Amino acid sequence: MTVITDAGAGTTAHTDANTHQVALSFEDGVTRFITCREDQTVADASYRQRINIPLDCRDGACGTCKAFCESGDYDGGTYIDDALSEDESAEGYALPCCMKPKSDLVLQISATSEIAKTQASSFTGTVVELERLSESTMRLGIRIENRGQLAFLPGQYVNIAIPGTDDGSGAPVNRSYSFANEPHEDRLIFLIKLTPGGAMSTYLTERAVRGEEVTFTGPHGSFFLREATRPILLLAGGTGLAPILSMLRKLHADKSPRRAHLIYGVSSDTDLVAIDEIEYLADQLPGFTWDHCVSDPASTAVNKGYVTSLIEPAHLYDGDVAIYLCGPPPMVEAVRKHVAEAGIEPTGFYYEKFALAAQPPAARAEAGSVENTEVLSEEAIAEDTSATDISAQHTSGQAASVVVSPGSTPADADEPVLMAADARAIAGQTVFPPADLGVWSGTRTAAAEDDSLVRIAGQRLWRGDIGERDLDPDAGALQPTASQPSGPARSIAGQEIFAAADIAQLHNPAPVAVAAAHGEVTGGEVADGEAAPTVVGSQGYQIGEEHPAIHESDALFEARAALELGALELTFGRLSSQQLTGYRLLADATVPYVDGDRFVDAAQYTETNAAFHDYLFTLTGNDHLLEAYKALGVKGRMSEVLRNATWCHPLCAQDHLDIVSAFESGDHDAARALISAHADRSKQTMRRAMADEMAARRPRFVTPGRFAGKVVVITGAAQGIGEHAARRISAEGGKVVLADRSELVDEVARDLELSGPGAVSAIADLETYDGAESVVRRAVASYGRVDVLINNVGGAINFKPFTEFSAEQIRAEIDRSLMTTLYACRAVLPSMTRNGGGVIVNVSSAATRGIHRVPYSAAKGAVNAMTASLAMEYADDGIRVVATAPGGTEAPPRRISRGTPEPRNETEAQWFQAHIDQTVSSSLMNRYGTLDEQAAAICFLASDEASYITGSVLPVAGGDQG
Ligand code: FES
Repeated sequence: MTVITDAGAGTTAHTDANTHQVALSFEDGVTRFITCREDQTVADASYRQRINIPLDCRDGACGTCKAFCESGDYDGGTYIDDALSEDESAEGYALPCCMKPKSDLVLQISATSEIAKTQASSFTGTVVELERLSESTMRLGIRIENRGQLAFLPGQYVNIAIPGTDDGSGAPVNRSYSFANEPHEDRLIFLIKLTPGGAMSTYLTERAVRGEEVTFTGPHGSFFLREATRPILLLAGGTGLAPILSMLRKLHADKSPRRAHLIYGVSSDTDLVAIDEIEYLADQLPGFTWDHCVSDPASTAVNKGYVTSLIEPAHLYDGDVAIYLCGPPPMVEAVRKHVAEAGIEPTGFYYEKFALAAQPPAARAEAGSVENTEVLSEEAIAEDTSATDISAQHTSGQAASVVVSPGSTPADADEPVLMAADARAIAGQTVFPPADLGVWSGTRTAAAEDDSLVRIAGQRLWRGDIGERDLDPDAGALQPTASQPSGPARSIAGQEIFAAADIAQLHNPAPVAVAAAHGEVTGGEVADGEAAPTVVGSQGYQIGEEHPAIHESDALFEARAALELGALELTFGRLSSQQLTGYRLLADATVPYVDGDRFVDAAQYTETNAAFHDYLFTLTGNDHLLEAYKALGVKGRMSEVLRNATWCHPLCAQDHLDIVSAFESGDHDAARALISAHADRSKQTMRRAMADEMAARRPRFVTPGRFAGKVVVITGAAQGIGEHAARRISAEGGKVVLADRSELVDEVARDLELSGPGAVSAIADLETYDGAESVVRRAVASYGRVDVLINNVGGAINFKPFTEFSAEQIRAEIDRSLMTTLYACRAVLPSMTRNGGGVIVNVSSAATRGIHRVPYSAAKGAVNAMTASLAMEYADDGIRVVATAPGGTEAPPRRISRGTPEPRNETEAQWFQAHIDQTVSSSLMNRYGTLDEQAAAICFLASDEASYITGSVLPVAGGDQG
């Protein structure tokens, strides 16, 4: 049925004729806007745009989605009376699962905006274990009644509300701690470093009793053990051992043969805990080995020093290793640097580093002498840049560095942990605030003249102003910052001191062209990209550069699958029928864009596929997992690679449906197998697209060395015929100057620069004479001269009967398709004349005889005329002037529009179609040409092979003479 209400009120303009804005007004006053096509239901559009409105049957049968339409016209769709009665419909109610907009809409949704979000769960349990493992560490055990409802991954953490505390707003102080137990163990175990004055420490040592009630929220975090078989290297700093223990216990529960080596580092002997447990696991797990070190020189440990000193080449498996590290930021950076300096790129580098804050009042009095801070936040570090001393502590079961400012006002120890949402990281992508690790640059507290060493937390630290000094790191002393003796040193509780700017990246950035294509690639067991070898032809010329890197793309999908398997464990069997309905809806949404093994619309598939995969992470209620997934940049990568793709693995869309079915039927194994298989099929789709794109870019015909030593300017070189001709000329040895108004031309130039003898780009508006001159100047400045000019800019903008053209439109066509060539010829001729010769190839058109683009036809007719006339006028200067006249040519979708407006109605669509029909029928071969066929003619005329041809126009249009 069609419903019409007060259209238009309160909504914004359409994005195009068939798409409308829908304002979703929630009960809590929040309004969210979505765009919705006329052939799409509001529910479908809403879920695709990550707004999960109430939904159940999706079919107009249950009434769950019922909403009041304040304004707008829509097709209400088909539904049963039980879901929406006639009276309700007459009052303005509608069913978003069935309704399709015919104008902008305003809908009142019967729910709060919170329904669109899934939040971390809250649990209440009782303290069942309080064990003092050492002077500095407690083991806290909690049991919850509804244990079956708490699913977490080994490595994740929770926020515990500390009983009997008040954060100043009436709410309890929260602290973050990682689980130390295996995900299926009944009892929840946490390792807690005691810090005098700290909220949790005070509670545990002074008030906590068994049986007391505690609450916590979670799980949080994206630091968890990915499922894989490759070896792992585990590094734990202090109570950062907790999540590592959870991982080891998981391996133990799975009877995993996976090779794993743990290096456990602490500051002092009293911090060394859970040794018995680690030894038990080493005894039980055949692939597990471990070692530990203590940085305190007075330690009785065999290894005195830092974890990096215990990393052996054998632990890194030449890079075929996943590294899991939980420790303070300096430890993370030290390991990153150490591994990079070893020349190793691990397939995965997962870390959890944590933030710091202030120290308690008792500690302030003893600043510089005691490690004693519990409250940690990254922000505190960033703000406190006047610190002089260091100490170390932990939250979330991990050690961390802290910066103490004796003269300043540290944050209160009872301040809640401000674990910034982004204060965790994944796979080499640091997501800390930019002011990571505050570095003191102010005035230092004067030390006694003869006191070149200070002690903090039992550790000796060199003063920062003692000048350059080589120290033996094995001597137990800390290293001063050699390069900046009085400046920025970084340190942590007897761990390490770093220069501020000498941390090497673990991974080298991908080549610019690749990196730009897909954004940051991180996460998962990812091997970063590198350019594949240049293809070198038999004549010594080079063609192509294998972008983008296939192995990098594969790694992205492996990383996605690893995260999804984690998300599955958190959500499987826990989704409501409404959540499953949303999941099903998003799976269905991907189907129309694939037909068998062909993409119907690759861009839409990419979009709907991203919404489907996002949803599972959203359902975990764990923002970190969703962020970790988004940080992979899968969608961006797919958008770039699949831009021109035609082939899709035939099961890709079906997988989405089957995964939802497995969730619905409770078939855990099937869901897991499908997620893994889907990753493989996605990889195949991407590989095929990359291979096809490389094949499409590579010239089909190449005459080696034909343009060796020549400088060739090509206009309109960012795409289409111009780009293809440029690629061929470059492959044939020419130095190319690529001119275009679009910055996309830079991409082509970078590509050809890598594979050919030389390529530069020139971004210019060739509809102006200044633009044309600037291109010639760029060519002369780069290569000293211009041997060949190929004028390729042009193309009809409008397609309609001549009487429909306005004066402005006629002018625009002439500017685009004639003036660009006229100006470029005028700009280049002085240079060619001075050099004693040259070649100009104008790309005209067979449309000099065609319909519905008369101004364009006229422009190209003029190009033919100027070709003949210039040839006559400049023959004596050794300059040939020739032209090709292409007919219809098949090309990938344009990345930059010519400005052709979308047909607004049937008549305009018919006008457009008529010109296509005429073009095809004028070709004796009854088909469009290819880019290779057009480039072949251009390159022949531009080369010395055509040395006796001038003033001619060569039709390349399947027999259409133009
Ligand atoms: S009527 Fe059931 S979800 Fe719309």
